[in-house]
This record gives sequence, C-alpha cells and structure tokens, in this order.
Amino acid sequence: MLAYMYDFYNSHTLKGQNDDIKYYKEQIKYYNAKTVLIVGAGTGRVAIPLNDVAKVTALDFDEGRLEVLREKLNSIETICCNIKEFITNKQYDIIIFPYSTIQFSNSEVEIDSIIKQLLKFVSSNTVILFDISDSFRYKEDKENIFLFTDYCNEVSDKVSVYYTSKKYDKYIEFNVIYKLDSKNLSLLEHEKYYYYDEEMYKKLFKQNTLNILKIDQGYGDGNFTHKHIYHVKKGSSFATERSYEK
Ligand SMILES: C[S@@+](CC[C@H](N)C(=O)[O-])C[C@H]1O[C@@H](n2cnc3c(N)ncnc32)[C@H](O)[C@@H]1O
Repeated sequence: MLAYMYDFYNSHTLKGQNDDIKYYKEQIKYYNAKTVLIVGAGTGRVAIPLNDVAKVTALDFDEGRLEVLREKLNSIETICCNIKEFITNKQYDIIIFPYSTIQFSNSEVEIDSIIKQLLKFVSSNTVILFDISDSFRYKEDKENIFLFTDYCNEVSDKVSVYYTSKKYDKYIEFNVIYKLDSKNLSLLEHEKYYYYDEEMYKKLFKQNTLNILKIDQGYGDGNFTHKHIYHVKKGSSFATERSYEK
C-alpha cells in the first residue's frame, strides 16, 4: 500500500522535477541510445515516458513500486534488484540514476561499490547519467509538519500527509506519515539522502576510471540549477564541464 503513496505524494509536491523527462529524451537522442537502464525507476515516473523513445529496463529494489509501474505499463521490462548486486550480459547505451537515486542511503563507500559494480557490465560506449541534488544540505529540520489532505484514488480513502526532516553531518532523514482517514491506519515512509559533495564524486569517478563527459546544471530551462547531472563514461579521455545547453 505504501508504494501507492509515492505517486500521490509526487502529484502534490513535484514541480519542475518533471522537466527531467524532456531532458532525458533529449539525451537519448543526442547519444543515439536505443537501450536505457533506469536505476531507481520507482513507479515509472521517468521510465514509462522514456520507453516511448528507447527500450527501457526499469530497475528498483522496491518490488511494491515496480508492481505499481507494471500496473501502468506491463510491457516494460522490470528488474527487482539492488544495483549494488546487479550484473547482466546486456549492453545498455545509457544508464540513468534519476532524481537523487545515487544519494539514497549511500555513503562514499557505498557509492564506490555501486560504481565498481557498474564497471562489471558497462561497455566503453555506455553513458551513465547521475542526477545529483545539492538541495538537501540547505533544508531545515522540521517536526511533524502537516503538508496536505486529499482523496487518494489508489487506496480509496482521504489521506493526510505529515513530514519530518532531521539533518545529520552527512545526510538528511525524511519521515513522511500518511494517515488514512477511514481505515484508522498510518503508513510511514523513511528515506535518507546524502548531501552532494562535488570533490567526492570527482574523486570516485577518477579512481574508477569513469571520465566526466560533462555536468549539466539543471534540466535546460534555467531552473533547478541545484541539480547536477553528471555524464560519465568508462575510460574516455576528455572531460569538459558546462551548464546545460541545447
Ligand atoms: C527518489 S526515488 C526516484 C523514483 C523515480 N525514478 C522518480 O524519479 O520518481 C529513488 C528510487 O530508487 C530506488 N533505489 C534506491 N537505491 C537503490 C538501489 N541501491 N538499488 C535499486 N533501487 C534503489 C528506491 O527504491 C526509489 O524507488
């Protein structure tokens, strides 16, 4: 049931984040990509629209969210797996870690292990995109703040949403509580996101021979410049850095 809350929450809170879909479609065209692996596909916010322009594989370790994704589009390939353990013989032209998925509970050691795992199956042609947010560091502690109440079709109930955030030295924790009105039931979503550390990412990419092709700031409309979208590739020999340009 918690998986249904993901889209319900996003439908009330996401604003410019959905601009990433257009951005990724442009990247797929630019790199002439035919096959795309989405890591942290969730309920398909990004994976489903991208499947219109390439063959998408949607990976997530949350089976409940993948089930919701398949309810929306059953033809898409889904893999329930932790990316830290994922291995494949398939070649993907692009691998996308959307919407801060790489920051999701991942310390430096864990990000390093994810990169090492990717290196076991990516080719030197695969472009990996990491969407990393610099905003978590600047958020504030909040205690049980009421966000909104609305009817949620998926659970056929009125749901009230409350939010708590607590900052630590290297990460922020979020607790979102969903109170289902008539069922006398509360659901808790707990998430932890590590702050953006530019030097750490650059060091880890370099140590693992992933070269930075470019870093886009935002999704192309001048907004969301706190999002840093790294384009990296195994073993290529040049690195440029620029703001997003079409
Ligand atoms: C911020 S959500 C993004 C979901 C969706 N792509 C979107 O943009 O709305 C991050 C997703 O990554 C998944 N995730 C986080 N770490 C993962 C890992 N190590 N392996 C697989 N999935 C992971 C979570 O379950 C969650 O669904």
